[in-house]
Amino acid sequence: MRSFVASTLLVSLALAAPYKDYGYSYGENSRLNVQVGDRPYYLVDNMDEGPLKQKLQGCSEGPFKPSNFVISHRGAPLQYPEHTIEGLVAARRQGAGILECDVAFTKDKKLVCRHAQCDLHTTTDILNRTDLASKCTTPFTPAANGKVASAKCCTSDITEMEFKSLCGKMDGFNTNGTTVEEYMDGTPYFRTNLYATCGTLMTHNDYINKVNSWGLQFTPELKTPEVKMPFNNYTQEQYAQDLIDAYKTRKIDPSRVWPQSFLPDDIFYWLKQEPAFGKQAIYLDQRVDTPEGYENATASIPSLAARGVRIMAPAFFALTKLNANGTIVPSEYAIAVKKAGMDIITWSFERSGWLNKGGDYYYQYVAKAIDNDGDMYTVLDVLARQVGIKAMFSDWPATVTYYANCFGLGK
Ligand SMILES: *[C@@H]1O[C@H](CO)[C@@H](O)[C@H](O)[C@H]1NC(C)=O
Ligand SMILES: *[C@@H]1O[C@H](CO)[C@@H](O)[C@H](O)[C@H]1NC(C)=O
Ligand SMILES: *[C@@H]1O[C@H](CO)[C@@H](O)[C@H](O)[C@H]1NC(C)=O
Ligand SMILES: *[C@@H]1O[C@H](CO)[C@@H](O)[C@H](O)[C@H]1NC(C)=O
Ligand SMILES: *[C@@H]1O[C@H](CO)[C@@H](O)[C@H](O)[C@H]1NC(C)=O
Repeated sequence: MRSFVASTLLVSLALAAPYKDYGYSYGENSRLNVQVGDRPYYLVDNMDEGPLKQKLQGCSEGPFKPSNFVISHRGAPLQYPEHTIEGLVAARRQGAGILECDVAFTKDKKLVCRHAQCDLHTTTDILNRTDLASKCTTPFTPAANGKVASAKCCTSDITEMEFKSLCGKMDGFNTNGTTVEEYMDGTPYFRTNLYATCGTLMTHNDYINKVNSWGLQFTPELKTPEVKMPFNNYTQEQYAQDLIDAYKTRKIDPSRVWPQSFLPDDIFYWLKQEPAFGKQAIYLDQRVDTPEGYENATASIPSLAARGVRIMAPAFFALTKLNANGTIVPSEYAIAVKKAGMDIITWSFERSGWLNKGGDYYYQYVAKAIDNDGDMYTVLDVLARQVGIKAMFSDWPATVTYYANCFGLGK
């Protein structure tokens, strides 16, 4: 990993170059008018007084450009239904340089964008579709007699054509629902249904074509199957290969593709079979979720590096901690990854709602230092400048775009 000082220097040199040298000279992107909206200003105003707040205030008038430090997580799901064209369009407008598609497969073994293979009952209107609801692995059962409502609908329950006919909604459900309508009405309070008017679902191919037309970069995630593999003869290896083949078919340069997986075997498969793509593969590390798993994960970093893994990606809570003085500093895990010469990408910013009570999962190791929404920039600053992360996934890319442009990050 390059030191922060070195990468800052490179960034400043790059900033002096004409815009086309950013790699955005093709597609519609070269004249994109990035809009960060009012939220970053609200968050900066909300910060505690200090040099970071002053620095960020000094960047208020831009200019704002797309940044590869900013990865759109599922589109822009703080406000848009996840994995929809509308969400992608919003993320691009907000300056994300890399856009995500979580990849799952349909009954006819086609690749589509969904966060989980079996989340159609919470992210689409499938339960309200008389022609498709009955095809669900577990059709809807209303709440009754003290038992909560249930349903489970998977991409592998339906064909690609059927998938494309669904409407995207905000992810959420009400377990107390006694009707489908009530069950589907579960958007968390800090999000909104304002844009949930039938979001346009995407196949993996739709996503690639869209992002390619914008000249931006790709981060497809091979989602862990929730059905037994092989699925009707469809093997895990074929699934991993199909994901890469979609880019090869279009002659998309591997340097623009950042494949991700939680399963190390997928990463090793790509390293062996598709090394040009494998060297950019992102190992999503969920082992950190328990204290013992965190210790094991930290200890395993040198051996993963030795096997060719180049990018580690735990949830961002695992990259910082509080020191004895209550200051937010890099964690042992973060230090181990940097020491091994690997890069770090992390997730997901703007997924937590309000931070006035110390935040959620994502702020668990620094909760004592968090008491207002502006503190999210304090955490991002430690991640960017002390941990040295390469990029941050965000549910609302604009917040990170503002920071990235202020510090010249992401090319
Ligand atoms: C469901 O009902 C229980 C019991 O009445 C209540 O505690 C809970 O908050 C309800 N959940 C939702 C999502 O409305
Ligand atoms: C369910 O479908 C009906 C008929 O198409 C429609 O009027 C209604 O808005 C839908 N409800 C939801 C929550 O999607
Ligand atoms: C799986 O492959 C076997 C052997 O090639 C074949 O006989 C069988 O029909 C296939 N099953 C499915 C569901 O495609
Ligand atoms: C951690 O590693 C030890 C020793 O290899 C192993 O016994 C244990 O199951 C691991 N725990 C977790 C949570 O991975
Ligand atoms: C805590 O603060 C004191 C006084 O500023 C400093 O000497 C000490 O090194 C700090 N400890 C840590 C762990 O940062």
